[in-house]
Amino acid sequence: MLTISEYVRKSLETNLFFARIMKEHSIFLEAGFVCKDVNLSQQADNFKNAFNLILMEAINLSNGVISRDSVAAQEFVTNNTLAAEEKTQNLSGILINLNVTQAEMALVGDSVNVSPQLQSAVFALNQKALLWTAAIADFKTKVLNAVLSCNLFTWNFPLLIEHIRREALMYNMMLTRLQNGQNPDDPAMAAQLEAFWNRIMAEHSLFIQHLLDPTEENLFETATSFANQFKQLTAEAEAADNNKSAVETVTKRSLKATQSIRDFKKQGTELILMCKIKSLIVPLLGDHVTREANHFIRLLRKLQATV
Ligand SMILES: [Fe+2]
Ligand SMILES: [Fe+2]
Repeated sequence: MLTISEYVRKSLETNLFFARIMKEHSIFLEAGFVCKDVNLSQQADNFKNAFNLILMEAINLSNGVISRDSVAAQEFVTNNTLAAEEKTQNLSGILINLNVTQAEMALVGDSVNVSPQLQSAVFALNQKALLWTAAIADFKTKVLNAVLSCNLFTWNFPLLIEHIRREALMYNMMLTRLQNGQNPDDPAMAAQLEAFWNRIMAEHSLFIQHLLDPTEENLFETATSFANQFKQLTAEAEAADNNKSAVETVTKRSLKATQSIRDFKKQGTELILMCKIKSLIVPLLGDHVTREANHFIRLLRKLQATV
């Protein structure tokens, strides 16, 4: 069972990371619908606003409460987030609240003692996030089914919609564990969590590969090689299951691979922002997948310290 201060800290860190991720999924969905589907675009925009509020609430409760590690990991915001948001807003016409990002950039970590008021505010925030996460997962399922039955056209790949649906379900699972007083990063779940995130990294590589302009041959090759590497790591994590030394090996290998794909994604985002890559990748998608890699790196370090 988590202590009260662990519950508060881990809850806020989970919401700071995942509420922004959900907000951005809504933006990617909205940007991918065609003109006739205004209704779906509007629903996606409503989700963007709902998660923006959750994120804002999490930021207001977090200063001096979350860990220094989590702030330093650049999983909440990176040096490129603000520029990526501005550019994506200009390109898509979708409004993005930049004040939230500025407030997040000013967050300080410390892990002080928590008051009962803070604990109950966090409990209420988690409950709200649980409802919205279930709702966005349903929306993604509905969109995915419409695409798979050829009743809807969108510029997002079916695998991307399935992928962001899985991330919503992961957020929901983390919140459920927290509300039950359980550790969302329980070392007993190491193999399962690593299989999940290695598969996510493999799919990011595939999205990058397929969204690059056909002339970007070198980047295409790098993305293909990352996809193969992470497919292999996913299989290894699945096979490791409860075997302690197998988990240790896959944790170490995953950490090394994720650090290198993070550098690739970060550099790619910067080149996209400088207009030096030809692709169908909006800058915010580049920064988004960089942050997911940073999140996985911090998770792997925590698991490495405990297994
Ligand atoms: Fe995502
Ligand atoms: Fe992702």
